[in-house]
Amino acid sequence: MSDASNKTRRERWIRPLPERVVNKIAAGEVIERPSAVVKELVENSLDAGADRIDIVVEKSGVKLIRIVDNGCGIPEEQIEIAFGRHATSKISAFDDLETLGSYGFRGEALPSIASVSRLRMVSRPAAQAAGTEIIYEGGVLQSCQPTAAAVGTVVEAGDLFYNTPARRKFLKTETTEARHISRLATAMAIGRPKVGFSLKMNGRVVFNLPAGQSLAERVGVLLGGGRKFLSFAFEGGLVTVEGCIGAPDVVQNNRNGQYLFINGRYVFAPMLSHAFVAGYGELIVPGGFPIGALLLSIEPTEIDVNVHPSKTEIKLSRDREVHDAVVAAIRDALRQDSVIPELSSGATMRPESDSRHGNTNRGSGAHVIAGIGSSPPAATEFLSELYQSTKLDNSGAAEPNPATVDTETGEILEKPESTVSSGTEREHGPSAGFRLVGRFSDLYLLMQAGDDLYIVDQHTAHERVLYEEVLRQIEANSASAQTLLFPVQLELSPEQLSLFESAAGIFQRSGFTVAPFGGRMVNIEAVPAIGRARSPEKMLRHVLDDILGLRKSGHDMIKAMAQSIACRSAVMAGDRLSDEEARHLVERLLRCDDRYSCPHGRPTFIRISREDLDRRFGRD
Ligand SMILES: Nc1ncnc2c1ncn2[C@@H]1O[C@H](COP(=O)(O)OP(=O)(O)OP(=O)(O)O)[C@@H](O)[C@H]1O
Ligand SMILES: [Mg+2]
Repeated sequence: MSDASNKTRRERWIRPLPERVVNKIAAGEVIERPSAVVKELVENSLDAGADRIDIVVEKSGVKLIRIVDNGCGIPEEQIEIAFGRHATSKISAFDDLETLGSYGFRGEALPSIASVSRLRMVSRPAAQAAGTEIIYEGGVLQSCQPTAAAVGTVVEAGDLFYNTPARRKFLKTETTEARHISRLATAMAIGRPKVGFSLKMNGRVVFNLPAGQSLAERVGVLLGGGRKFLSFAFEGGLVTVEGCIGAPDVVQNNRNGQYLFINGRYVFAPMLSHAFVAGYGELIVPGGFPIGALLLSIEPTEIDVNVHPSKTEIKLSRDREVHDAVVAAIRDALRQDSVIPELSSGATMRPESDSRHGNTNRGSGAHVIAGIGSSPPAATEFLSELYQSTKLDNSGAAEPNPATVDTETGEILEKPESTVSSGTEREHGPSAGFRLVGRFSDLYLLMQAGDDLYIVDQHTAHERVLYEEVLRQIEANSASAQTLLFPVQLELSPEQLSLFESAAGIFQRSGFTVAPFGGRMVNIEAVPAIGRARSPEKMLRHVLDDILGLRKSGHDMIKAMAQSIACRSAVMAGDRLSDEEARHLVERLLRCDDRYSCPHGRPTFIRISREDLDRRFGRD
């Protein structure tokens, strides 16, 4: 028998806990560490409409946290109520959460903080001539009296966790707790650039920011350190994203530089962090994390903030769509003319190394970002021009060597000997929109259009072409299959097998004919005909693994399938394309819905303008 069951009947009597005990227990969840006090109090100040918030912290918050705001204040007769459990002015019914416009709603922050500290609040609404001072110790009211005060609220929480020794013991070192506080305060200041903020820690001013700033100004001061950022605004159907993000060469090896907000709320959201990185595609080094802030606005009905007392976790009803929108927003922003890695004076072309090809060019990135938002998307203009002229080029006798790329499937059917020599194949004329002027490393196709040089990555370009094609085929159930003369068997891992079984229909529609063969063995009878014939076992294994990975990061099944087949079938670095194949690849790329990047988000081409070259050679 346990000790508990040995207790007397009287001791086991069920009765409500005293409010002070409840508050202390709740404080365990809401107030995990000193930075949580800062968060709760600053959120209260923001909810009170303050446009100036000053934060003072001593001894990493354990000795003192003082928040001063110029918000609406609390009327004298309500100040004690504010410290009551579940007392809030922000909602009055559960349904109000559906349209929540405030940070707070649980009515537990003040009683929780008061129960684990010595707390003093002075508050005065504008309509009152004087303020009210209220003092609690360990949740017990000590005094409540009128006092002279400025409009707004001051809260001082001292001796944090003095009466919960276990919690105090578990606090990390002073430096760690201080770091949490400065990160949190930084986040709050980034999330609300219009509000003036200051943070003073142990007598030192960490930052002091005026009200009315833009996101770019805030990020510049708080995260900048002379580094370059790009600002953008993106309107999706479900979500709008305002962002200020680092140039692709401004990376670090952890996610600490990422500040994510949903409807003004600073959140911890692995799904958004993933999208943040995914938006850069391979513009950043593998393992590198971009930095910056993303402020998402989503209909309140689409989110649930009532997941955890600290409210830093949020549930999104359509998280995949939000993920994809964020990826698209970042990709679009980086794709703007001057941001696509470009050879500009003083900057290098590709800011990060490409691990496959080992070309490490770490530029300052300074020019990569210059002029963002102001210059028109010249690449777009070029491409529509290019598309026009391509069509002209192929429309008649001017074409010396007709196409051998299957324009429906992207399949390169044969490799005719080219009659086009690098750099000299066309005369200038109205129909000579672009010329293949060379290739580099059996990977990059060098095209000239007007005065600009375009460098096309043959792999990413082909991936994009095949991706859109495969997607269409799967959706229309029209993928052609290549039947194997000799079927091959393959043993799948349990994870691969269960994926295959759950998505057999999609595999079938994509051109795979794969039948169970006992145990975890399968018999491969046909593979998608698109792209180049590779080992069928490798193809299936790779596709299964790719899809498993993509599904984990929230991709839709059909898109994941198309992405994988495209990637595994596209021409690779090292595959030598004939001039004709190269030109037709570009032509097909121009027909794509999204021609600027491959499905992973890597650019399909970059532009180097004549002007840039001239500048670099000192010709301007
Ligand atoms: N700085 C402030 N200025 C004006 N009113 C405040 C301030 N801080 C708190 N209040 C008032 O006190 C009430 C209780 O605050 P408390 O933080 O405990 O709960 P909440 O903000 O409503 O919800 P949550 O527990 O989710 O933060 C608030 O609803 C608000 O009306
Ligand atoms: Mg609150």
